[in-house]
Amino acid sequence: MQHKITSFEQYTETYKRSIEQPEQFWMEIADSFEWRQTWDKVLDWNFKEPNVKWFLNGKLNITENCIDRHLESNGDKAAIIWESNDANEPNRTLTYNELHAEVCRFSNVLQNNGIEKGDRVCLYMPMIPELAIAVLACARVGAIHSVVFAGFSSQSLSDRINDSECKVLVTADGLYRGNKTVGLKEICDEALQSAPSIHKVIVYKRTGQDINMQLGRDVWWHSEMTKAAKEFEAVEMDSEDPLFILYTSGSTGKPKGVVHSCAGYMVYTYYTFLNVFQYEADDVFWCTADIGWITGHSYIVYGPLLNGATTVMFEGIPTYPDAGRFGATSDKLQVTKFYTAPTAIRSLMASGLDFVTPYKLDSLKVIGSVGEPINEEAWFWYHDHIGKEKCPVVDTWWQTETGGILISPIAFVTPTKPTFATLPLPGVQPVLVDAQGVELKENNVEGLLCMKFPWPGIIRTTYGDHERCRQAYFGTFDNLYFTGDGCRRDEDGYYRIIGRVDDVMNVSGHRLGTAEVENAINEHPFVIESAVVGYPHEIKGQGIYAFVIVDKQSIENGLVDTDPMQAEGAGVDNSLHLLNIAAFENEVRNIVSKIISPIAKPDKIQIVSGLPKTRSGKIMRRILRKIAERDVSNLGDITTLLDPGVVDEIKKGAGL
Ligand code: WTA
Repeated sequence: MQHKITSFEQYTETYKRSIEQPEQFWMEIADSFEWRQTWDKVLDWNFKEPNVKWFLNGKLNITENCIDRHLESNGDKAAIIWESNDANEPNRTLTYNELHAEVCRFSNVLQNNGIEKGDRVCLYMPMIPELAIAVLACARVGAIHSVVFAGFSSQSLSDRINDSECKVLVTADGLYRGNKTVGLKEICDEALQSAPSIHKVIVYKRTGQDINMQLGRDVWWHSEMTKAAKEFEAVEMDSEDPLFILYTSGSTGKPKGVVHSCAGYMVYTYYTFLNVFQYEADDVFWCTADIGWITGHSYIVYGPLLNGATTVMFEGIPTYPDAGRFGATSDKLQVTKFYTAPTAIRSLMASGLDFVTPYKLDSLKVIGSVGEPINEEAWFWYHDHIGKEKCPVVDTWWQTETGGILISPIAFVTPTKPTFATLPLPGVQPVLVDAQGVELKENNVEGLLCMKFPWPGIIRTTYGDHERCRQAYFGTFDNLYFTGDGCRRDEDGYYRIIGRVDDVMNVSGHRLGTAEVENAINEHPFVIESAVVGYPHEIKGQGIYAFVIVDKQSIENGLVDTDPMQAEGAGVDNSLHLLNIAAFENEVRNIVSKIISPIAKPDKIQIVSGLPKTRSGKIMRRILRKIAERDVSNLGDITTLLDPGVVDEIKKGAGL
């Protein structure tokens, strides 16, 4: 733990050195890992192409650093503690020795099923230790894992499998989520009807529900494991070989496959975990995210294991069996560091203190937040009632593309300020620019958040389409990585993230593109066109508001009605009209669930006859956002609209 920063003076000094001599700085950290062969150059980069390479020609396997190197001194230490969805089911603990054996076994299973270095493997699984085992086994055989969050629909799953041509799919019969069971294998079967690259499906038995096993294609996890040896020599990887792909939404088109590479990601997640959470050997670290998201990759699996920590994996949801689950679990497992999302904090807040006060929460030392801006009220509630006013709140800002945390307090070291992610970690060089890309150098400014120098965990490419990576992140401003976030820097140089400035929504901490949701809504046969925006939502941070143009004929047929009071024969059968609108909205939500995921369902649907468009046909989302926010005091210039009248109509329809 020689790289741990323990005072603010040390932070200032370390930060300065990391900026003045970045290569030297990161080299010293990289030195503490096991390498098969060390690098011959620390960094090669330009943001123009972009081309970023760290630790060039180094050879390693990340799993030797996550597991093997801890075995001698810490083989019997708990690596993973698993908490079931069912609060009464006993915990499962895997020591580092056991994790090693399981990962090696599953590496053999992958190899026995035709997986070689460089192949893509899709993981669509419940939050069970086998997901972490599968992730690590992919890394051990040199395969590229692509974890797809198990809340995504069959179509989202097949899109992701096809984009990176995965050869093997690892899944389970089903998963538990609160009092529900989800038939994962059934969803996979549907997805596989249009995912021809998959030649083997490995199925873990979790729920025991009835499923179809296709002969020759589908095999059981348990029977494959019993056939497999428990030793597996890790495959040697180059520093810059891809480690994984993780799909994330952008402002245009389909989700992009963000690619991270082996060495840089390893060094960066190790370092940020150690410092931000001030890792100590006896910590029980609990990150409540799902491994289907970047937070789970970096701070359930890789970051903690690289440090030899004990990491908690939770299968369930915060509100099952009741809203006291976080407190109960934290007390039971004696959790020391807790990392969750503002949306979970707000939903606990809404449930009331009755679900908090029964728990001691006295094992907690650091509490963290990630995924969306944390509002002041939630920050204080978290600090006072979960952290009992003694735990620093680390508001960590980062993205799928950044691999690890970039701007955050270092626990006990950085003085915190509610709603501020505070200061950049060592090696991170943020800049704020105006819309023209001119740097705003002073303090007390608001601008677009960019990075002017690479850190080891930065995105390398978007799978199969490097140009898309360039355009999305490096094409907006010369020589800068553009985050898509708006940000304020205050008089102390502290950063406060305001939120996305592009067409990306953040719903309960999940990133969703407006275009993605619109495309799904447009699949409804009555829908001609739609426009979707995010609006402030008390629990979810942002909710989804959909403005939908419906085919005239459908309205005339009485299937839906924009305004029942004015419908022909008003007063005759308004209930029928209302019912039909409700039914239509339901169908729209179902379509979105089916095409993307239930997390993308619109909260509000308003039927409109037109959308505010410029003469060139671009939807003016700014206006729709204002209407969705119910703040129409300043709609800005609407005279450039093709049909300014439509704005009044939409306002009226929204009851404004
Ligand atoms: C937002 C999640 C404010 C931000 C790790 C970013 C945040 C997007 C914070 C990335 C934070 C993440 N404060 N906003 N502490 N952390 N965000 O890729 O808009 O799922 O661009 O990565 O979440 O979301 P992603």
